[in-house]
Amino acid sequence: MCAQPHDPGHHGRMKIYLVGGAVRDRLLGLPAGDRDFVVVGETPESMAAAGFRPVGRDFPVFLHPDSGEEHALARTERKTAPGYRGFVVHADPSVTLEQDLERRDFTINAIAETPDGTLVDPFDGQRDIEQRVLRHVGPAFIEDPLRVLRAARFMARFAPLGFSVAPETLELMRTMAASGELDALVPERIWQELAKALAAPRPSAFLQTLRQAHGLAAILPEVDALYGVPQRAEYHPEIDTGIHQELVSDMAAQLAPGDGVIGFAALTHDLGKALTPESKWPRHIGHEQAGLKPLEGLCERLKVPNAHRELARMACREHLNVHRTLELRDATVHDLLARCDAFRKPERIEALVTVCEADRRGRLGFEDAAYPQGAELMRLHAAALAVSARDAVREGMTGPAIGRALRKARIDAIATTRSTP
Ligand code: CTP
Repeated sequence: MCAQPHDPGHHGRMKIYLVGGAVRDRLLGLPAGDRDFVVVGETPESMAAAGFRPVGRDFPVFLHPDSGEEHALARTERKTAPGYRGFVVHADPSVTLEQDLERRDFTINAIAETPDGTLVDPFDGQRDIEQRVLRHVGPAFIEDPLRVLRAARFMARFAPLGFSVAPETLELMRTMAASGELDALVPERIWQELAKALAAPRPSAFLQTLRQAHGLAAILPEVDALYGVPQRAEYHPEIDTGIHQELVSDMAAQLAPGDGVIGFAALTHDLGKALTPESKWPRHIGHEQAGLKPLEGLCERLKVPNAHRELARMACREHLNVHRTLELRDATVHDLLARCDAFRKPERIEALVTVCEADRRGRLGFEDAAYPQGAELMRLHAAALAVSARDAVREGMTGPAIGRALRKARIDAIATTRSTP
């Protein structure tokens, strides 16, 4: 593999190494993301004297005066208290590159590159990249519970390349989950990792990895509760609702690559099925309304951003209605659009339709199924949206009368459009 040397510029005498995701992704042949550097043998004072701007809160990180790229002083970390903040950081000029690499999570993330393109790889990260193994660097892995989530989200990204978690790493992850340490993770960090997983090509690998580590129940209990809940085989040949949500999440990632808002709605659209009494299985009448409460609980707990919440609520409530678009009455189509606020926020309908298509095709054997409902709902929405208030509303009308006239004109537009295929 051909290394592209990085240019240390006028800081050529400093010992600067490219590290982490940038080295890993280049070796994997993936597009370059942010570049992170480690600097050995310096102090905050000598960095400042060389023009670097300090930015680190928890440990010494600096921005390069020209490129603005992050440069961290080589450091070691030692666990002193439970939780991800219970670390003492040690960064002084005596800390070596190898010590800095040793504190890192996975071998594939613990490779450094010198300015002339030579790789420093004391933990055989290159071998694990070749063999497609996500393996922890050392016993200190267990000190940071966030790494259980990081393993899962790296799997969401790298499973399609053939990666699996090393058995001994999975063993440590189980130990960490069993110790209850995952409960110490703050919501922001959980959301950060979940959001990255949902924007990755295979979100199901995030769920599967957490389940294998026995950690999904601690992180996403509402989602974990869907495993083992049966659905009717004629609609859901995969039967298990947990498998269905995995398939839907992966289908959403395929239909809208990198779109975590659509991904989140796909993941959570069926949460209500976990609340169906067993006596009613395998049917789930009313699961759309039932899902809103666990969805709200999940969103509150993880402080999920509003855009994600709103689409997720809509998809949870309306997915069966969208599937039935072709059978709904004209007025019912209108009211569905109105409930989605689709006349003020028209972009919502395409997103909702994408989630519903993912739901339809996220079933065993339905991967290539057509979804004419989606195109039809978008067509009807466009027609209703094109109705101008000026044409619909007559002079002298007030408040409620305006609303009624507009509704009627939109329903007429939907009816006319439906009769012209
Ligand atoms: N790292 C770690 N343990 C953590 C967080 C980070 O060991 N809990 C190390 C890893 O070596 C990682 C590097 O810090 O490669 C940078 O972390 P981050 O930017 O979060 O991840 P990347 O690996 O760069 O991945 P991404 O492509 O998502 O940025």
